[in-house]
Amino acid sequence: MQAKIIGTGSYVPKKVVSNRLLETMMDTSDEWIKTRTGIENRRISETENTSVLCGKAALNVLGKATISADKVDLIIVATMSPDYLSPSTACLVQDYIGASKSMAFDVSAACSGFIYALSVAEKMLSSGKFHYALVLGGEVMSKIIDWDDRGTAVLFGDGAGGVLLENTSSQGSFIAEDIHSDGSRGLALTTGALPVSNPYSQNEKNPADIHLKMEGRAIFDFAIRSVPKSIKAVVETAGIDLSDVERILPHQANSRIIQAIAKKLKIPFEQFALNISNYGNTSAASIPILFDELVSSGDLVLGTGKKIILTGFGGGLTWGSILIRI
Ligand code: ACO
Repeated sequence: MQAKIIGTGSYVPKKVVSNRLLETMMDTSDEWIKTRTGIENRRISETENTSVLCGKAALNVLGKATISADKVDLIIVATMSPDYLSPSTACLVQDYIGASKSMAFDVSAACSGFIYALSVAEKMLSSGKFHYALVLGGEVMSKIIDWDDRGTAVLFGDGAGGVLLENTSSQGSFIAEDIHSDGSRGLALTTGALPVSNPYSQNEKNPADIHLKMEGRAIFDFAIRSVPKSIKAVVETAGIDLSDVERILPHQANSRIIQAIAKKLKIPFEQFALNISNYGNTSAASIPILFDELVSSGDLVLGTGKKIILTGFGGGLTWGSILIRI
């Protein structure tokens, strides 16, 4: 049995926050944000939590694929901004969409989360034990960023996206993957610090801290070193050339990172799909939102067999690429 991508979907909150609006709140400028990152706007949730964004994205996927929620037997949500530590966001989504027969769990791999979740789902479907899997990436980054830190506050946005996978006896979508972690560099990007705290603990000076902290320059350098190698690895495994790949859908963290990756790979920047100007960095949601936009606009057509690469990087540290035929 093989896993095949049969649908995409997404949902973003209505509120658009422009760089200009941020200028009124903090010491920053539209010019700085645009030239350093490529970001112009981001969506910010006013009421909807991560499970609701994911639930609405899931209903969008299922509606377009005309598959009812009761047929879904696996839900995986990639997120670093869950509603709760427990229950998982995936269990909340299961209830939201009424997928009562589904197994549901979250994957924690920050901005690479969607790549990790897709890889796990592919293996579970290939086992033949599941039929339809919803793989979602969703974030409300606005609740975990420190709005007093201009170095990170301007970078992130909220949203959710996902795909529906079907277990098929014919040709599946997955051709090759290259996925890694390096926990030794994990403290370069942290959020939701939960130090030991109890009547016996010695850690009173280290309270819990939800906020995202990032060594921006270190992550930048790590991304431009690791991602080109990972993209090369999947095309080499598949025995194809990068020119055989229709589009590369990278995690949308910074358009300068994507430019540097294109330069290292010696391929046109235009081969990479980009929507960071509208949404900022939506972490685990950025690749599935982008995928859905390209399918909705007709730029990518499911069923054509064309090859695309999804590639992500972020906290953990984690990174990885998946080569698929759509
Ligand atoms: N507005 C204006 N000035 C600012 C802002 C801001 N919002 N933020 C920082 N600056 C200033 C700094 O204070 C600094 O000023 P100084 O030179 O007087 O000290 C100057 O701009 C340069 O700051 P740098 O941090 O060196 O800027 P850099 O060019 O490295 O860009 C950025 C910062 C955009 C964060 C970049 O390093 C980056 O994109 N890093 C990667 C982040 C990333 O990809 N994360 C992905 C993983 S996310 C995940 O997994 C959740």
